[in-house]
Amino acid sequence: MANIVIVGTQWGDEGKGKIVDLLAEHADYVVRFQGGNNAGHTMVVDGEQFISHLIPSGILQGKACVIGNGLVVDPEVLLEEIDYLSGKGIAVGPEELKISEKAHLIMPYHKRIDAARENAALKNNKIGTTGRGIGPCYEDKAHRCGIRFVDLLNTAGFEEKVRTVCKEKNFYLTQFFSEDPMDAEDIINKYNVYQKRLAPYITDISVYIDKGIKAGKQVLFEGAQGTHLDIDHGTYPFVTSSNTVSGNACSGGGVGPKKISGIVGIVKAYTTRVGKGPFPTELFDEIGDKIQKTGAEFGATTGRKRRCGWLDTVILNNAVRLNSLTGLVVTKLDVLDDLDTIDICTAYDYKGTRIEDFPADLDVLAECKPICETLPGWKENISKIRKYDDLPQNTKNYLKRIEELTETKIDIVSVGPGREETIILNNIFD
Ligand code: GDP
Ligand code: IMO
Ligand code: MG
Repeated sequence: MANIVIVGTQWGDEGKGKIVDLLAEHADYVVRFQGGNNAGHTMVVDGEQFISHLIPSGILQGKACVIGNGLVVDPEVLLEEIDYLSGKGIAVGPEELKISEKAHLIMPYHKRIDAARENAALKNNKIGTTGRGIGPCYEDKAHRCGIRFVDLLNTAGFEEKVRTVCKEKNFYLTQFFSEDPMDAEDIINKYNVYQKRLAPYITDISVYIDKGIKAGKQVLFEGAQGTHLDIDHGTYPFVTSSNTVSGNACSGGGVGPKKISGIVGIVKAYTTRVGKGPFPTELFDEIGDKIQKTGAEFGATTGRKRRCGWLDTVILNNAVRLNSLTGLVVTKLDVLDDLDTIDICTAYDYKGTRIEDFPADLDVLAECKPICETLPGWKENISKIRKYDDLPQNTKNYLKRIEELTETKIDIVSVGPGREETIILNNIFD
């Protein structure tokens, strides 16, 4: 039996949704363990596109899906997503979806504070958040005034908590941002309606997953965001507010580390970033524009244009180490089909010194110039290829070089958004 963690290796949007959907065929449970509806995971099945923000991408394969305790959940968005999927004939009842009683609720004041902070911040201090209230909700979790799903089940306790927290938030909103206050009673009424629909989904997911594993079920843990958006290891402060690395699959999914058998890092064949923050291999020329257009690089959550650049193995090696990756999945390789040459960054030049480890100091990072190797392109449409041996030699050379530079094997190559547009090299669940 195998339990596999999937994480993003770059700055998110690596194609985790597609790969989780693909691998969910072999899993019984699919578990999200961190983040919230800042995530946008895209799946394309029989030409139809689905985007999920909260519900694990295993839902399309009819697998039991779990929202772990490590998430921050906007109940309004979750209900919209349940209705959207149900409207497409996909079962999303309490049998198919479990929500951790310990997951935190995103409250309306979290979204207001997220937006107010971004509006008030000076240009260079803006994080470019998704505006979904993620940071303020995790803040309250750490501050110990967060509201959890288990609180939703205790009406009197829930109402008292909302009234108490709202007082403090209103002081902050009105006195610091000169904004209108929020009405605690409105929030309570709204959330009591959500409670009625969501109560049957709320459970102890740690017990649920443990029973499943003991009964021989296989679990796929679906990461959101990417390693370089991790609150500890990313380009702080231009990061999200949770740990995105594989270790958090355990704390955020309610299992111990001995239950994990494989950790797969999703690598886009080039690099993208949405929102603010450093990006050493970013391209500002026509090649960057071409990759952005060919790759249709627009955020699945906010619709913002994604910044594009060359593959960076300094950050990949950071991800290999921080996540203990056992394998890689290279996605969007087809987007590079038409390029004459392709660069791979292998190190940084910092004021004449070669750096191979990703620096924590953003002032140092800002001075780092990528040192690149240039490989010939393949100038061929690879999107119809389904076998590794049928790939052009230059494509194989590019993949081999990624394996060499990261000292990690590639298990899957993705050559299009569709579930079938995939080349399997190793069976991850074996
Ligand atoms: P995630 O957040 O990691 O799940 O990734 P997103 O869904 O935000 O962004 C990835 C985008 O690339 C989506 O539009 C996918 O449909 C698309 N995609 C995934 N794999 C491939 C691929 O191999 N080739 C192409 N052309 N598109 C892909
Ligand atoms: P998926 O799961 C790409 C980025 C935001 C912003 C920063 C902080 O689809 O890969 P937040 O709202 O989390 O406080 O914003 O993190 N960000 C993402 N970028 N993909 C994501 O998720 C992201 N989730 C957050 O753009 O820079
Ligand atoms: Mg995404």
